[in-house]
Amino acid sequence: MDRATVDRIAQFEGNDVLLQGWLANRASKGKLHFLQVRDGTGTIQCVVFKGNVTPEEFDAADHLPQESSLEVEGAVRKDPRSPIGFEIDVKRLRVVSVAEPFPIQPKEHGTGFLMEHRHLWLRSRRQVAVLRVRAAIVKAIRDYFDSNGFLLVDSPILTPAACEGTTTLFELDYFGEKAYLTQSGQLYSEATCAALGKVYCFGPTFRAEKSKTRRHLMEFWMVEPEMPFADLDENMRVAEDFLVYVVGRVIEARRPELEQLERDLKPLEAIRKPFPRVHYDEAIQVLQANGSDIPWGDDFGGDDETRLTKQYDRPIIVHRYPAAVKAFYMKKDPTDPRYSMSMDVLAPEGYGEVIGGGQREDSLDVLRNAITAHGLPMEAFEWYLDVRRYGSVPHAGFGLGLERTVAWICGLGHIRETIPFPRMLEKMTP
Ligand code: 4AD
Ligand code: MG
Repeated sequence: MDRATVDRIAQFEGNDVLLQGWLANRASKGKLHFLQVRDGTGTIQCVVFKGNVTPEEFDAADHLPQESSLEVEGAVRKDPRSPIGFEIDVKRLRVVSVAEPFPIQPKEHGTGFLMEHRHLWLRSRRQVAVLRVRAAIVKAIRDYFDSNGFLLVDSPILTPAACEGTTTLFELDYFGEKAYLTQSGQLYSEATCAALGKVYCFGPTFRAEKSKTRRHLMEFWMVEPEMPFADLDENMRVAEDFLVYVVGRVIEARRPELEQLERDLKPLEAIRKPFPRVHYDEAIQVLQANGSDIPWGDDFGGDDETRLTKQYDRPIIVHRYPAAVKAFYMKKDPTDPRYSMSMDVLAPEGYGEVIGGGQREDSLDVLRNAITAHGLPMEAFEWYLDVRRYGSVPHAGFGLGLERTVAWICGLGHIRETIPFPRMLEKMTP
C-alpha cells in the first residue's frame, strides 16, 4: 500500500493508502467519527464508519485527544465539500501515541503564551503556511542568483571585526581573543568576488539590537550578492529585478498558503519594474511635505519609511543617504562627499526596508581614513584593505533580510512569526 501525504492525495484517488499524522480536531455524528488529520503537508478529513473498523478502533476514534499521533489506512475519495477536494474512508486506525492535553486549543491565546509554546504553536495551520512561504522565498532567492551568474560562496559566522557598527555586536571569547558573531557576510564577499566573480552568501547574521520593534530580530537570515565591476546604478537594477522575480515566483508557488493567511494578493501582483529611484533629499522633502519633522541628515525610522512608502504603489529605492548615517565601507558620492553611494529598497504597505546596500569604497586611502574616522581597529581590517591593494575595482552589492521579506509577502504584523524560533530582545526560549 502506498504511503500518501495530504499534498499529493489527488494522485491516489480511488486507491487505498497509508496516511501518518497527528489529530488536529475531531467530531462525531452517530455511527461516524470525523478525524481531521494533519501530516505537515496539509490536513484531511478521515471518516471512521462504525461498520468499517473494529469496535476498539471505533472507540479509539471517539476518545482520541488532540495531537495524538496516528496512522490510518483507507480509500481516498473525491468529496466536493472538502476544502482540499478529498477525504479518506478509514479501514484501519492505529494510534501511535496518545497525547496529553494539548496547551494550545482552537481558541484565542495571547501572543506571550503562544511564544512560550512556540515549538507547539508551529503545528498550527497559520504557522505552517508561513514557514512554507518562507521555504519558497529561500528557493526563489537561490534560483535567481544561481541562474544569473552568481556563485554561492559562504561567509564565516565567527568574525574578528564589526561590519555594521560596533553597537550591535554579540561578543564572545575565542580562546582568549575577542570574536563576534557576524553582522553581515559582506566584507568576505567583497574578497570572494575578486576571486570568483559575481557571488552571493546566504546565512544567519546576528545583531544585538537593543530596541524592541516589530521589524528586528537578534538572529536573522540575510542573502548578500556582491558584484565586481558594478556601480550603484547596476546594483539598483539587480535589486529590483531580483525582488520582482522573488515575489512573482512565491505567488506562483504558494498561492494556497497566501490565501490561507488571508494575504491580499493585489498589492503583490502589482509589483513591477521599474521601482522609483528617490534621492535622499527628495525623500526628506516628501516626508516633510507629509507632516514629518525629520531634519536633513537623519536616518529614517520605521515610521518615516511607512510615511514615505505610502506615497508610492510599489517598492521604492532610496539612494545616496548621508554618509554620516551609513557604514564605513560605503563609497562617497564623487559629486558631493556628504552623500554615500548607498541604497535601501523600501517595501510598500508599511513594511519598509527589506534591502540595504550600495557601492563600496574602492580607494585604499579613502577606506583607511574611513576606518579611522569610525574608530575601528585598523589591524582587524588589514585583510579587507588587501582587496583594494591587489586589483581594486568598483564593486557593489546588497543584503536582503529574509524575515522582513517573509513578513511583507505573508502580510504579517510582526517579524516574530517569520522564523521557526525567533531570537528577541526579551527572550530566546524555546
Ligand atoms: O541594511 P543592513 O544593515 O545592510 C547590511 O548588513 C549590508 N552589509 C548588506 C550588504 O550590502 N551586503 O541589513 C540588510 C538587511 C536590511 O535591509 C533588513 O532587511 C535586514 O537586513 N535586517 C534585519 N532583519 C531583521 N532583524 C534585524 N535586526 C535586521 N537588521 C537588518
Ligand atoms: Mg540598513
